[in-house]
Parts: sequence; C-alpha cells; structure tokens
Amino acid sequence: MTWDAAMRTAIELAHNGPATGVNPRVGCVILDESGAMIAEGWHRGVGTAHAEVDALSKLPDGGARGATAVVTLEPCNHTGHTGPCSEALIAAGVARVVYAVSDPGHASGGGAARLREAGVEVVSGVLAVEVESFLGDWLTAAKLGRPHITVKWASSLDGRTAAADGTSKWITGAAARQRVHEQREASDAIVVGTGTVLADDPSLTARGDAGELLSTQPTPVVVGMRAIPREAAVFRHPHPVIFEGTHDVAELVRDLHGRGFRRVYVEGGPTLASAFVEASLVDEYAIYLAPTLLGGGHLALGDIGVATIADQRALRILSVEQLGADLLIRAAPAQTGRAQKEGN
Ligand SMILES: NC(=O)c1ccc[n+]([C@@H]2O[C@H](COP(=O)([O-])OP(=O)(O)OC[C@H]3O[C@@H](n4cnc5c(N)ncnc54)[C@H](OP(=O)(O)O)[C@@H]3O)[C@@H](O)[C@H]2O)c1
Repeated sequence: MTWDAAMRTAIELAHNGPATGVNPRVGCVILDESGAMIAEGWHRGVGTAHAEVDALSKLPDGGARGATAVVTLEPCNHTGHTGPCSEALIAAGVARVVYAVSDPGHASGGGAARLREAGVEVVSGVLAVEVESFLGDWLTAAKLGRPHITVKWASSLDGRTAAADGTSKWITGAAARQRVHEQREASDAIVVGTGTVLADDPSLTARGDAGELLSTQPTPVVVGMRAIPREAAVFRHPHPVIFEGTHDVAELVRDLHGRGFRRVYVEGGPTLASAFVEASLVDEYAIYLAPTLLGGGHLALGDIGVATIADQRALRILSVEQLGADLLIRAAPAQTGRAQKEGN
C-alpha cells in the first residue's frame, strides 16, 4: 500500500469520529515492513484513545516493531485525558511515522520533534491539502486559540433580513433552511442576540426534513442584557441555554472557547452579527440570498466601522451554490487592508 493510499484510508477512518467538540477527528493506519496494512484506528472523542493508540491496541505486543504509522494529524506530545501518542509510538517500536498536517496546538504540538529525537523517521505533508480541508474549522480554532466563527444570515436580494414589521420567517425556502440545520448540527454552539429571541422565538435546534431533532445538537447561546420570557422556545432545547450578559464580543468568544466550543455559528441578528464583523471575529460568512425584495431599514448588517471606502471589509468568495430558488454564498475575509492589519 502506498503512503497516499494509506492516508486516504486514514482520512476515511477519521470521518468515523465526532465532527464537533474539543478534539479533532483523526485516523491512523499501521503498515508492516512490506507495506501491508496491519491495523487501523480512529479517535472517538474526548477521553477516548487517540487514533494512533487505538490502532496500536489492535496489535499483539511487539506487533508494531519496525512498522510505519500513517496518521492524518501530527501525533500529539502532551498528556491530557490520555498519554502522548508520540511516546506510545516510540514504545511500540514504530520505525516511521507519516502524517499529513502539523498540530498547531501550543500544548499538543511537538510530537514530530519528539519522534525524531527518539530515532523514528518522520515524514510530513502527505495529502496535507485534503486533510486541511477536512479538519478546516478545528485547525483554525487550534491556530487562533479561539473558536472558528461562522456568521450566517438569510436576506432578500436587496440585503434585508426582515420586513418593516420585523417578521423574517421565512425569507428563504425549504432547501436553504435544511442546509442551515445541517450547519447547526456541525457546530458546537449557536449564538444569537436577545433581539432575535424576542422577535422570532427560535428553538435553535438542528432538525431534519420532518422536524425531527438531528443526532447532534449545538448548545444555544443568547447574548445581551434583556431577560427572555420563561415560555421562550429556546428553553425547550435539549441543551441548557447559556446566557452571556455582555456586549463585548471578544470577551464572549473567550468564554465560548473556555467552555470547549470550537465551531461557533452566529445566527444574528444584525446587531450581534455587526459586532462580530466590526471586531474582525468572523472566519466564514454563510449568506443565504432569496430572490425577493423587502426594502426598508432591516439591513443584514448595521454599523461595522466602515466610515469610508478604504475601510471596507473585502471578502473572497469560497463557493456559490443554488438551493432551491435561493443562493448560498460562502465567503471569508480577503486578508487585505484592515482585516489583515487586525490579524483576522
Ligand atoms: N434573516 C435572518 O437571518 C435573521 C436572523 C436573526 C434575526 N433576524 C431579524 O433581526 C431582527 C432582530 O434584530 P436585532 O439586531 O435586534 O437582533 P440581535 O442582534 O439578535 O439582538 C440585538 C440585541 O443583542 C444584544 N447585544 C448582544 N451583543 C451586542 C453588541 N455587541 N452590541 C449591541 N447589542 C448587543 C442587545 O440586547 P440587550 O439590550 O438585551 O443587551 C441588542 O439589542 C428581527 O426582526 C429578526 O427577525 C433575521
């Protein structure tokens, strides 16, 4: 088996792990000296064996001596809920470790250096692009030391998120709304301002076509000082709602990271979304555009600190997709001008 083929298998194995939570999805295969696959493993989430240790556990004592471990992420070098994978690989007598992407975590990185120090051959970068795109949000969070943040809104073609009376259910059609539920399911937390809860009474759950709850639910977070009525739908969410009594989004983001959230989905409304944009705390925009016009003053964003055109928040388009009659535009900061200066 070639390293590329083994890495593809490791990526498939990684997909068995949970898509949300603090830890990355990681897969590992072990090849014997002839290149035949002798074990496979993957990480099943916090507190369980890492992929390398899971794969090694399938072999008898001494079974990995002289073997090659092919793993999607650089083996970790720290003791968390489990011991360092670099030490487990060294102890098992593995001769070579092939991995795709380096671990950017301050505490967990450094596994490659430790392996080399112990005389293990280390090869990095195999299928790195594939693994980076698969690990995307987790890698951003690990590099930045804060959650990956997606800001979503649904608007008319003229950029309005509600009609004059504040009603906004439903601007987009069923296919777009279903995609929103999938994006919610892939998030650790879903964040809205008190204005949205008071206006729309959203349940903030991830639901399927028939309204059934999907298997993974994001934790609902409501930001603002005002109280929410006791009968609000968000109180019937499977996870207890977190109230963040602040207008400081940097403080909010620090708190969400501290709670273990790595993928945060901000669903508005315009006041909260604008605060994230102004603070340069957006990694991705998910903008659902409906072929309709609403006019009026309910704009998708309010003041984002753009006083003059030189301050504009340039974006680059990641993808454009038609969902029923609507469009989903995914975009990211263009890394130019002000966004770059602020390190977004
Ligand atoms: N189409 C869409 O995608 C979409 C999505 C969501 C909402 N909406 C619509 O948006 C409208 C509600 O708009 P909105 O702007 O009031 O909603 P919002 O952004 O959800 O809530 C605004 C409130 O959040 C609090 N807040 C939190 N962080 C803040 C900050 N950094 N700066 C200022 N305030 C902060 C403040 O409440 P406190 O006074 O409690 O502190 C503020 O009044 C509704 O008509 C709703 O239907 C549309």
